Amino acid sequence: MKKAKSLVCIMALCAGAIQAQAPKPVPADQSKMNTFISQLMAKMTVDEKIGQLNLVTGGEATTGEAVSNDVEGKIAQGQVGGIFSLTTPTRVRKAQQIAVTKSRLKIPLIFGQDVIHGYKTTFPIPLALAASWDMPLVERTARVAATEASADGINWTFSPMVDISRDARWGRIAESCGEDTYLASQIARVMVQGYQGDDLKKNNTIMACVKHFALYGAAEAGKDYNTTDMSLDRMYNDYLPPYKAAIDAGAGSVMASFNDINGIPATANKWLLTDLLRKQWGFTGFVTSDYTGVNELIEHGLGDLQQVSARSLKAGMEMDMVSEGYVKTLKKSLQEGKVAMADIDNACRLILEAKYKLGLFDDPYKYCSEKRAKTEILTPANVKFARETAAQTFVLLKNQGNILPIKKAGTIAVVGPLANTRANMPGTWSVNADLANTPSLLEGLKAVAGSKANILYSMGSNLTADATLQKNATMFGRDIPRDERPEEVIINEAVATAQKADVVIAALGESSEMSGESSSRSNIEIPEVQKHLLAALLKTGKPVVLVLFAGRPMAIKWESENVPAILNVWFGGTQAANAIADVVFGDANPSGKLAVTFPQNVGQVPIYYSHKNTGRPLQEGTWFTKFRSGYLDVSNDPLYPFGFGLSYTTFSYSDIKLSANSFAPGQSITATVTVTNTGKVEGKEVVQLYTRDMVGSITRPVKELKGFQKISLKPGDSKAVTFTIKEDDLKFYNADLQYVAEPGDFKVFIGSNSHDVKESQFTLAGK
Ligand code: NOJ
Repeated sequence: MKKAKSLVCIMALCAGAIQAQAPKPVPADQSKMNTFISQLMAKMTVDEKIGQLNLVTGGEATTGEAVSNDVEGKIAQGQVGGIFSLTTPTRVRKAQQIAVTKSRLKIPLIFGQDVIHGYKTTFPIPLALAASWDMPLVERTARVAATEASADGINWTFSPMVDISRDARWGRIAESCGEDTYLASQIARVMVQGYQGDDLKKNNTIMACVKHFALYGAAEAGKDYNTTDMSLDRMYNDYLPPYKAAIDAGAGSVMASFNDINGIPATANKWLLTDLLRKQWGFTGFVTSDYTGVNELIEHGLGDLQQVSARSLKAGMEMDMVSEGYVKTLKKSLQEGKVAMADIDNACRLILEAKYKLGLFDDPYKYCSEKRAKTEILTPANVKFARETAAQTFVLLKNQGNILPIKKAGTIAVVGPLANTRANMPGTWSVNADLANTPSLLEGLKAVAGSKANILYSMGSNLTADATLQKNATMFGRDIPRDERPEEVIINEAVATAQKADVVIAALGESSEMSGESSSRSNIEIPEVQKHLLAALLKTGKPVVLVLFAGRPMAIKWESENVPAILNVWFGGTQAANAIADVVFGDANPSGKLAVTFPQNVGQVPIYYSHKNTGRPLQEGTWFTKFRSGYLDVSNDPLYPFGFGLSYTTFSYSDIKLSANSFAPGQSITATVTVTNTGKVEGKEVVQLYTRDMVGSITRPVKELKGFQKISLKPGDSKAVTFTIKEDDLKFYNADLQYVAEPGDFKVFIGSNSHDVKESQFTLAGK
């Protein structure tokens, strides 16, 4: 209650401050745009203005339950502002032609698409890309995606998705950048830059849409579309900054999330969409709902279609995706005084501005080049880059006795339900992936090993014992063959294959549709039937490498204790198989680091490294102490901590050297460690910087990531890695939502993951 009051207070102060400012001069190009749009809007009827707010689906991919009907007829009547899920220059041109030749005012359409981790050349899922900790690399994936998508008619992507996700049950954790605010904010920024480039008017850049605003990743119990209820501390300090980073990087649009936030669904949340997004953050683009988000407010219990449409518009939601609540009811609401003409005008103007910024009024067909579609999609350079990228995202979780890399020699048994499927390689949200040219793991291993190794294959088990679960987990053509013979028979076959081999590669885990939208799991282990297979393979006494496919952190405690080598490959895009083979055979050295904590079991979820200390912390390394914050049956430790990942080489860290032990606001200090490659091969290491604010006006996390550098070292080489720490790095939102650094003592940690760190301390002096 107290906090809510202070928020109202802050908002009032902020709005007041904005009103008090003298109007800023309007830049010449913006003034030209304003004039153009004002002149156009002067000619528009109310129906045409509302038509611009309508976003329909072209239906190429199924990304929601409802479908849009009579799309061409509606475009001709000026009842559509944009289409998504319609691709190729030919089809896009056809729809655009109707808009610019048959509709009265010839206003071009905007064309959206879920270009989430690449386009036809598909990169690893976002949670995997985050594990690269390589920002230039991530930016380049977005640039390639924009180039391919724009060559295929698209000018607007529903990405980046930057929902902080700390619940491994939530299927959409796969689409996120993981649990950490700082890392996700860096990724938000570079992805927007990658998509939008330096000029949205170019024909190979596309508009970004940051989503899902807001807090979608905190859905209760990890159940998709579920309620979110969150303190302002957590919201401002942990969950909101990545969206803001995308806005600050210039993202042209925002997608409202499905979830209820503290009692008001995002789609109709005026505080969120207007007070925070526009007034506090200064966002000048447009907001779209998510798929039927407006309609779903009826189920949320906010009223009938007319009421919820009016409420969404007034909250600051300009574009209505698929619901058609705006086109069906806003005119009536206007006549009844439930919305004002200014509400419709504002929304219409923002959407026309987006089209103007994309240059669609100059050339509505600028993304419809058959030549570009033929020459700029799936180029050898893009495919090569996808392969190199995927190899950077795999996380080596265990490598006992240096089983990996294995030699391209002898006999290798490749076993498991995920070993021989192409459709499962790219991962969730890869609706445009070029599946025909996506090798299965078996094909990738054979191609990379060449004739030097004899590769045998056996499926070994079904994906899940239950046929219905397998069907639900392999939707949208992402099939995995099913063998209806008894489990033991299938396993025995694989055991016989393993016995002939020198080494066994077990391709196990989740299918790609076991994570992603509407794919939450209450059990985050490898399906039981696959574990039976794994146990049988281990019993052969052959060295076993687990190649783990996962769209989430999985609870693999038993595997971590019993399998000598585990390579977590997530879902690596269209070139995943070749990249896995590159790593397995040692042509590439793994350098991925977890962007999310792996729990020991599902009961520890949500588990994340930047937790608060509590008043009764359990001493690290102990399991259970009466009257301390922990569990009776499991320690508080993660299975694998945030930031963790091994390499085929090893690195040592010197102690931290600080340039000074204290600094005043406005000054800075540096923290330096020397990192040495102590192994036998060249490798990359992500050097991570964390701080802890020891005393605060509010409780502060035990560690917060504040910087990282990815370095490459040859065997025996050392490098001094220096981080600068400034007052700004120590700021947080206090109880009054002021963004401040509080003078006092801080700990600083540098290391190879959030747990294994060197430690020092410094003081931020008072003003
Ligand atoms: C629903 C999803 O929540 C969103 O992420 C996606 O962009 C839209 N569908 C459009 O496909």
